[in-house]
Amino acid sequence: MFDVTGKVALVTGGVRGIGLSIVKELLRNGAKAVAILDINNVSGEKVVREIHDEFGDGKAMFLKVDVKSRAQMEDAFRKTIATFANLDIVVNNAGVCLDLNWEEEIGVNLVGTTNGTVLAFEKYLPNSRSGHEGVILNMSSIGSFTLYPVIPIYGATKSGVAHLTRTFGQEVHYERKKVRVIALCPNRTDTEMVLWNDAAFLNPEYAELQRQIDMDEQPVGQSADHVAKAAVRMIREGKNGSLWAIEDSKPPYEVEIIFSKKEIEKPM
Ligand SMILES: NC(=O)c1ccc[n+]([C@@H]2O[C@H](COP(=O)([O-])OP(=O)(O)OC[C@H]3O[C@@H](n4cnc5c(N)ncnc54)[C@H](O)[C@@H]3O)[C@@H](O)[C@H]2O)c1
Repeated sequence: MFDVTGKVALVTGGVRGIGLSIVKELLRNGAKAVAILDINNVSGEKVVREIHDEFGDGKAMFLKVDVKSRAQMEDAFRKTIATFANLDIVVNNAGVCLDLNWEEEIGVNLVGTTNGTVLAFEKYLPNSRSGHEGVILNMSSIGSFTLYPVIPIYGATKSGVAHLTRTFGQEVHYERKKVRVIALCPNRTDTEMVLWNDAAFLNPEYAELQRQIDMDEQPVGQSADHVAKAAVRMIREGKNGSLWAIEDSKPPYEVEIIFSKKEIEKPM
């Protein structure tokens, strides 16, 4: 089992919500330090002060990064390793629900997660991990395999994240780089994202559909801390290439999406 103790992590979208809960859960489990990447620099510095108060000085660093920018992400990976000496865990968590502005949504959710996955997988984890293995955890959604009619573009971006995870999480890639790639697929989680900004929806008819669903189903939801506990458990023990759904405050369960594999005789 992968031991989080003494490991260095990088978490995108880490100043609030699920990302911040994962940062704290990693530190509670003995991580050496966490680099917090986020576009929100106002909260960023405050969050680092809070973490230093709770966990001790030097446990976190904030870097203002737009995950859509490959150059900014590359710079953040370099600064993290320069500051903390290693990098063992990358959590690609930054995401938006913004169907009205789908260029931005696809950019953050899919380009951003691709930047974090490819840079971590091909270069920074293999070169800078402290142990025998690195881990990437990508934040997908239950919407990656449920055709939720209200936010079709958000669902498409999260399906892309699931596909990316499963493809990099194949044995042929593990043999090359010794990096495990896993995705978590939460259902509704009580964060600012589900306060449903108007721009979450393509137009008012979609917003109305959401209101109807909320009235009819009275969704249970779950806390960001519950999702974060599952995230750290998956970082420890999740099988390479696996997808884990988590909903209604229950334990996570593995989801099997059938993709046909391209068999390759020998590792590249
Ligand atoms: N809340 C839910 O119900 C739910 C369900 C399934 C999946 N998710 C996913 O979980 C992840 C975290 O969401 P959350 O609910 O904590 O939302 P949140 O809005 O509370 O947090 C998202 C964080 O990402 C940051 N961010 C946004 N754009 C960015 C960018 N371009 N570059 C860097 N950082 C950026 C924000 O500043 C914020 O700190 C997202 O990927 C989301 O899609 C959330």
